[in-house]
Amino acid sequence: MSSVNLSDRIPNNVNLSNDRTLQRALEHWQPRFLNWWDEMGPNEFAHNDAYLRTAVGVDAEGWASYGYVKMPDYRWGIFLADQDPERKIGFGDFQGQPVWQQVPGEFRSQFRRIIVTQGDTEPASVEQQRLLGSICPSLYDLRNLFQVNVEEGRHLWAMVYLLHAYFGRDGREEAEELLSRHSGDVDKPRILGTFNESIDDWMSFFCFTYFTDRDGKYQLKSLAESAFDPLARTCRFMLTEEAHHMFVGETGLGRVIRRTLEVMKETGSDDPAVIRRAGAMDLPLIQRYINFWFTSSLDLFGSEVSSNAASTFANGIKGRPDESLYSDHLALNESFELVVPQGESGVGTEEIPMRNAMNEVARVAYVKDCGMGLKRWNMMIQRAGHAFELALPSTRFRRGIGAWANIPTDPTGKRISAEEHTRRMPEWVPTEADRAHVKSLMQRVVEPGKMAAWIAPPDRGINNQPSSYEYVKL
Ligand SMILES: [Fe+2]
Ligand SMILES: [Fe+2]
Repeated sequence: MSSVNLSDRIPNNVNLSNDRTLQRALEHWQPRFLNWWDEMGPNEFAHNDAYLRTAVGVDAEGWASYGYVKMPDYRWGIFLADQDPERKIGFGDFQGQPVWQQVPGEFRSQFRRIIVTQGDTEPASVEQQRLLGSICPSLYDLRNLFQVNVEEGRHLWAMVYLLHAYFGRDGREEAEELLSRHSGDVDKPRILGTFNESIDDWMSFFCFTYFTDRDGKYQLKSLAESAFDPLARTCRFMLTEEAHHMFVGETGLGRVIRRTLEVMKETGSDDPAVIRRAGAMDLPLIQRYINFWFTSSLDLFGSEVSSNAASTFANGIKGRPDESLYSDHLALNESFELVVPQGESGVGTEEIPMRNAMNEVARVAYVKDCGMGLKRWNMMIQRAGHAFELALPSTRFRRGIGAWANIPTDPTGKRISAEEHTRRMPEWVPTEADRAHVKSLMQRVVEPGKMAAWIAPPDRGINNQPSSYEYVKL
């Protein structure tokens, strides 16, 4: 097992102190990171103790420790899953060969672009979420927000380590750029669309952690297969942390729905106006938030047909999520049947070579994973005696990238006229009135154990603490 050094200025399990040049470069980047955190991280809470977990190793049993920490003092470290000396490349043209400990020159720019794109999303989400603390529905939720934030910060460290350690001067320059682009900035936006959307209410935050962090999970799963071993090991460990982010999203939305059902029972009504007057979120509103964030996250997988995806697969850069589940890791003779727009209003299919469909393969797995939470929520709704069913919209709906980009469809994927599309959009994604209502409910609740009226308490607290624990000391 790798040895963990927690006393270095930068905690790590990569023997950083053995490589003085690298260590110095990263120690030079560290104050810039802290500056960025100060300016772009969670506002107004720099001096408060928060009950957070910190990665202290990669041992499955005890990889994290819990305790109070002020966020700027958080010990952001560099942790890679342990190396498997026998590991072989699992897919693509180099399948079966030993994995790479260095980046092959011919794939350098492809690797760099992928690492930069992944790295860019991590600080982006911290920026997007920076104002949520002041309108938190409970101390428990405030703590979860901060946990997600500090871990996205650590994921940035994970990518910056790779850039510094394996990409020389280009890598160092990219690491600087990761701190100079900002979410929603007109001149220097973040690379991917969803990461420039604003997240100024907790419904958006829960949807983001449910849908967009889950996209992150699938990207990390693909990169965890990479032939470049340090990248694979980094991503494998990031997945351990990422699971909590999706837990926050799933339980967050689940608690909102549970509260809505309580209010429906109390008022004996499912009329959105009545539910809103009682201070909760109505189910149709929740569906519109789901529609918005799910469709926005779908675009993150890229085009259905992609020669770039074929090439990153062939070159061993990025595999399929859970590559080991497939029997053919070359994917040379298979094809994929894609649903595509046909003519003015039709829907048809097209056979494309499997390698070109890798984005779509990952998206299909992602959509299935997204469905799991909805199943549980629908069970709750059904048990409460309501016919309402939450649904994921079709992957053709409201797409901005790929075969269905800018093709007007309804949420079931049925093609409709541009006029109908525009006219009916308020039925499908959050309206101004929805957002205003959600905003009106965003009042800060910080008494330990108390919850805002629009969300039910969690089933249990964090790390066996009660849900009334003082998760953040204000
Ligand atoms: Fe992340
Ligand atoms: Fe995340």
